[in-house]
Amino acid sequence: MRVVHGAGPRAVRVAQWALGAVGRESLAGILNAPGLELVAVKVHSPDKAGATAGNGVVTTVSVEELLAARPDVVVYTPRTPSVDEVCGLLRAGVDVVTTAFAFHPARMAEPDRSRLLDAAVAGGSTLHGSGLNPGNFSAAVPLALSGLVRHLRRVTLTERADWSVYESTSITFDAMRFGRPPEEVSESASELLAFNADLFRQQVWLLGDALGADLDEVVTEHEVVVAGERVPVFDRVIEPGTVNAQRWRWVGRSGGADRVEIDCMWTVGPTTADWPAAQHGWTLQLEGDPSVSAHLMTLASLTEPRTLAEHVRAASVATAMQVVNAIPHVHAAPPGFATSADLPIPRSLQGFREPASP
Ligand SMILES: NC(=O)c1ccc[n+]([C@@H]2O[C@H](COP(=O)([O-])OP(=O)(O)OC[C@H]3O[C@@H](n4cnc5c(N)ncnc54)[C@H](OP(=O)(O)O)[C@@H]3O)[C@@H](O)[C@H]2O)c1
Repeated sequence: MRVVHGAGPRAVRVAQWALGAVGRESLAGILNAPGLELVAVKVHSPDKAGATAGNGVVTTVSVEELLAARPDVVVYTPRTPSVDEVCGLLRAGVDVVTTAFAFHPARMAEPDRSRLLDAAVAGGSTLHGSGLNPGNFSAAVPLALSGLVRHLRRVTLTERADWSVYESTSITFDAMRFGRPPEEVSESASELLAFNADLFRQQVWLLGDALGADLDEVVTEHEVVVAGERVPVFDRVIEPGTVNAQRWRWVGRSGGADRVEIDCMWTVGPTTADWPAAQHGWTLQLEGDPSVSAHLMTLASLTEPRTLAEHVRAASVATAMQVVNAIPHVHAAPPGFATSADLPIPRSLQGFREPASP
């Protein structure tokens, strides 16, 4: 965090880190947001380096070149986050907003938690993780809806999604391990699955901590079901007998009662899984006095015909914009960790303004 005295508001200097499905949308969001100025774009793949990313900025693989552009904030959206990379940015005095991790870093395992906090304090910088889920639908929206409620008994977010439309197949197959034999699809068999599960546990802790649930524990239940048929997914294939359905439940308990739950039913193509019927998208239920329910979806348009690919892309736009729109709040926040429960709810920076860049 840095405060500029005297000269009136200046644009926040923003660098984009990685140009994947989310990063491409983030880049367009930065270029169109009043008050943000794109100053650098760091890419992972060498074949994406040397291109003009917009605003005259040329993409680079070099972290040194990114830092030389003196960004105030980096939008960090790599496939796999690195605590070392983020510590380097924070220590250099750069705020980091990310869709990849750090949704409630205070509940992150050591030594990562202390390393990130020390780096942020040393650099006077702030770390914020958010997105769609984890992020807006599992933190900002339930917290906003809880403003209607006197006494809460339980908060449940159910996500039902078919990943066969998701173009980032490396995340589907390599990180989430769809398409593998069942014995290879568990937290104990995969560091990445364990990492992913921990992100959702952090999100449950976040709601519990923010809403006074006094949780004793957050437990994980995981069920896998295999495909009955071959399912082609972009450049990959799910073979029969390999996992194409995973149900993950992360439940925060207090005094033996379930208080906060994220229940994700994820499939890749048709499934025989015997799960509760759930509407595609996200269903949020706050049980209390009063009880509140909302069904949430992201689509490319609610009124105009769009392709399936455009609807799928809408989720990446939403994921990216949740952190891009949070940039002014994060940059103004005190050094350290800033969760969705700490910051004001981000609103669209571009709003109704016509896009300057597609
Ligand atoms: N919170 C949420 O709701 C939410 C939703 C969706 C995604 N996410 C997370 O957001 C992040 C970005 O998602 P995405 O769909 O954009 O991912 P993606 O398209 O699969 O990959 C993002 C970029 O990561 C870089 N990359 C690829 N391999 C890498 C490696 N081995 N080491 C370091 N970087 C590598 C590439 O960057 P270049 O393009 O620069 O070469 C790639 O384009 C992921 O961590 C994902 O889990 C969060």
